[in-house]
Amino acid sequence: MDIIRHTAAIALAVLALPALADSFDTIKVEAGQKLFDAECHRCHAPNSTDPSYGPSLENVVGRGAGTVADYDYSTALAASGIVWTPAALRAWMEDNTGFMPGTKMRHVGIEDPTVQDFILTYLESISG
Ligand code: HEC
Repeated sequence: MDIIRHTAAIALAVLALPALADSFDTIKVEAGQKLFDAECHRCHAPNSTDPSYGPSLENVVGRGAGTVADYDYSTALAASGIVWTPAALRAWMEDNTGFMPGTKMRHVGIEDPTVQDFILTYLESISG
């Protein structure tokens, strides 16, 4: 009897795990969106349809740098040839002007890896 109860409890716990992981992801995306709103949104639309001073960041994760059609990039960014991997986006958030001298995005210094992580999770959520 006990063994059945234990097995049932373990089965329930295992079934609940993905749901828990899902809700953590949702919380991370929501926190990331708030941080994006505070740090990036005034210059970057999260979709390609809204007007945006900087390039839209829809689908930015995995995208080639400087590839939003009709956006007037700096020469430094347009010629960089880099791809916006999670690592490149972290380096950019941490010190964009050091990472890419000549960029016209003013310096944002987001050094806290947790904050980078949340913003990255949000950027992934708006990428295909
Ligand atoms: C004051 C306005 C401003 C803020 C704030 C800002 N950006 Fe930018 N961002 C720009 C501009 C302008 C560019 C184009 C830079 C260039 O052409 O050199 C840019 C470019 C980028 C690019 C390159 C996109 C591409 O298409 O290659 C990424 C990625 C980016 N910003 C991410 C962010 C993130 C993430 C934040 C918030 C942490 C942020 N930016 C905050 C103005 C801003």
